[in-house]
Amino acid sequence: MSRHFAASVVEHHDVNAGFRLLTLSPDTPALPPEPGQFYMLQANTTFDPLLKRPFSFFSAADNTISFLYRIRGKGTRALAALDTGAKLSVIGPLGNAYPLPEGDYIAVAGGIGIASLYSLLGAVPGRALLFWGARNRNELLMPERIEPLVKTVVMTTDDGSVGEQALVSVPVKRFLADHAHLPVYACGSTPMMKAVADVCAEAGARCFVSLETYMACGVGACLGCVVKIRTQEHPQGTFRSVCKDGPVFDASAVIWEGAGE
Ligand SMILES: Cc1cc2nc3c(=O)[nH]c(=O)nc-3n(C[C@H](O)[C@H](O)[C@H](O)COP(=O)(O)OP(=O)(O)OC[C@H]3O[C@@H](n4cnc5c(N)ncnc54)[C@H](O)[C@@H]3O)c2cc1C
Ligand code: FES
Repeated sequence: MSRHFAASVVEHHDVNAGFRLLTLSPDTPALPPEPGQFYMLQANTTFDPLLKRPFSFFSAADNTISFLYRIRGKGTRALAALDTGAKLSVIGPLGNAYPLPEGDYIAVAGGIGIASLYSLLGAVPGRALLFWGARNRNELLMPERIEPLVKTVVMTTDDGSVGEQALVSVPVKRFLADHAHLPVYACGSTPMMKAVADVCAEAGARCFVSLETYMACGVGACLGCVVKIRTQEHPQGTFRSVCKDGPVFDASAVIWEGAGE
């Protein structure tokens, strides 16, 4: 089965202001994705490779794949304009997956990072202690679908409109004081993931992060998405591509300077 396929838009609607949920149906049989994997979506048929953009899959069902996304710039504006029946060029599923936790775990979502973690919450339902941070109420997306999948949820916002007015790493740090044995899975902005990685390192907790970098090809060919990762052979760090070796990395191996945003 090829990872390159055409797909049709079967549903596309606003979630909150500036965020949309897109559901595609592949025109030919496609490989099933694993939690944490992503797709490159090309929103138009003209030759503009810059319009191919990476998106984690939000959910997948029989012959449909959904994406929850934030409208940011040229590529996501083109995506947002697609009507039902429109065709897209798709590559995926790509990248590695979250290693599945065997019991309870801590999930830390920052803003649209919930789009990637949602597939993990669904794969291991009822076991996540979710810490969910966003700028404001508008950016805490689809709580009615997320809350039934988790054991507990702690929300934070930058403006205090929901939950504690704090960065999400603040309650995570407090919680880790007594729960550092639980693995942590984080997805969000690079500064947020670095903050979570730092509190995990202090507490001695294992942490996995799903990195976001700019991607041109998505398949390991252009080296546009490389980050520095420590390995046994290269304790000072060596370049790894987020699209092929990631996007999920052990946070303790990531050299954060220059990683993503
Ligand atoms: C593996 C992976 C999975 C992703 N999953 C999702 C997802 O599920 N939902 C979602 O909404 N987004 C996701 N993203 C981010 C998404 O790819 C970008 O928002 C998108 O490429 C922006 O394209 P654009 O043309 O609209 O914006 P551009 O015109 O390219 O940029 C507009 C603005 O957005 C910022 N920006 C663009 N790309 C990124 C990025 N990768 N990281 C941080 N800031 C960026 C730029 O700084 C710029 O200010 C993911 C990224 C990666 C690497
Ligand atoms: S995006 Fe081209 S190598 Fe990763």
